[in-house]
Amino acid sequence: MDTYIGIDLGTSGVKLLLVDEKGTILKEVSKNYPCIHIKENYSEQDPQLWYENTIEALKELLDGQDKSALKAMSFGGQMHGLVMLDKDDNVLRPAILWNDSRSSKETNYLNNVIGKDKLSLYTGNIAFAGFTAPKILWVYNNERDIFNKTTKIMLPKDYLVYKFTGVFATDVSDASGFLLLNVKNRKYSKEMLDICHIKEEQLPKLYESFEVVGNLNKSILKELGLNHEVKVIAGAGDNAAAAIGTGTIGNGNCNISLGTSGTIFLSSDHFTVDKMNSLHSFCDASNKYHLMGCILAAASARSWWLEQILNTKDYDGDEKLLEDSNVVFLPYLNGERSPHNDVDARGAFINLSSTTTRGQMSKAILEGVAFAIKDCLEIAKENGIVPLKTTICGGGAKSETWKHIIADVLEIPVYILKTNQGPSYGAAILAMVGDKKYASVEDAVKNIVKTERFIEPNLNNKEYYDKKYSIFRKLYPTLKAVR
Ligand code: XUL
Repeated sequence: MDTYIGIDLGTSGVKLLLVDEKGTILKEVSKNYPCIHIKENYSEQDPQLWYENTIEALKELLDGQDKSALKAMSFGGQMHGLVMLDKDDNVLRPAILWNDSRSSKETNYLNNVIGKDKLSLYTGNIAFAGFTAPKILWVYNNERDIFNKTTKIMLPKDYLVYKFTGVFATDVSDASGFLLLNVKNRKYSKEMLDICHIKEEQLPKLYESFEVVGNLNKSILKELGLNHEVKVIAGAGDNAAAAIGTGTIGNGNCNISLGTSGTIFLSSDHFTVDKMNSLHSFCDASNKYHLMGCILAAASARSWWLEQILNTKDYDGDEKLLEDSNVVFLPYLNGERSPHNDVDARGAFINLSSTTTRGQMSKAILEGVAFAIKDCLEIAKENGIVPLKTTICGGGAKSETWKHIIADVLEIPVYILKTNQGPSYGAAILAMVGDKKYASVEDAVKNIVKTERFIEPNLNNKEYYDKKYSIFRKLYPTLKAVR
């Protein structure tokens, strides 16, 4: 049987899957790397580290496997990260990542001086500090020598595609997060390029996520011990790739990702925006669109609490301690993207007493993340988008309790898939479609993505969560006043 590789270039590491043409996972390899925070609000990674870790992981993945069966590979990548290369393809500075909020001045300039109406008209979106365009303006304002030397601007996974194929390419789902794309028309916006002082030739060529970009170049083939042609398919931003991996395509479908960030992904056949542009309006990986809310700390809020504060990695042990209480947690540890668009928002525990237990605080973390995702869902609902169920993926989704909390808080069933994989599985499916194994992304998803079971919301918990969510809603505006 033919095989395919899906690569998820994430924030905490790179994860690779080797999958056969029926979608059976044959092998999985992950490599972790750090995020560098040289100052508060700064978050950077060295693209070379992505490349080296991916090559090592590829070697491990293919070790002992039938290499000749490998037909194609594709990518899901952390979105928005700014990678800049000079004329000789040297990386000019560390990549500025999606969770870096140094560009708040540039974000305010875009939203308030250029104006949200114009941005929305040009791109379908307003500016958030996590997006790439404000980061480009930050480099323009603060590192002009680097800006002047830049001949190529790309996103994290595009760097791997470039190194692997020599083709300067991106896909429309990931490119949506540049804030340089006219999302509706799936083309760069000339107005936005002018605003950011860049030219189209500095940006990667646009592909649909399932299109072939090129083949692995000779040196990579040699390094991996391959001696036949292997196609490289454009791939997608990690959330759009996860949507494919979880079968979230077409009108009214929903996927929640509990990764370093948390996202709610609402797929749609048509381009749409919410009234206040609080949600991101992006292209998807199946030639359609989606709305997305992104919270900046999801599984990372839990790992902050366990690893940094409690100094333990015993997640299962912690799960056994969880208890209900009136303790409420605000997960804005890195500021917040959706819906508040506020880089200065901060986290909090509320309602602590001398009888508060660790288990109550641990449970409040899981609930607080679910409430922040509910904030995004409420905006979708106000705009007439009412999903009837959701799938779930990401590291946090390994927790059974967290999945129940999500079902109870969002009041929709949570569907658990047989594979329980997100972006890397979606990337492997895109590789199959690019290789023409399936006629379309829809066709592939219909054949490959299967539900195992679902968790219904427990109505007995409704009063408990309604009460806590009403407290949660009051906290952001209240605490804003005491910064
Ligand atoms: C989405 C976003 C994050 C990253 C995480 O807009 O910024 O979900 O893609 O990798």
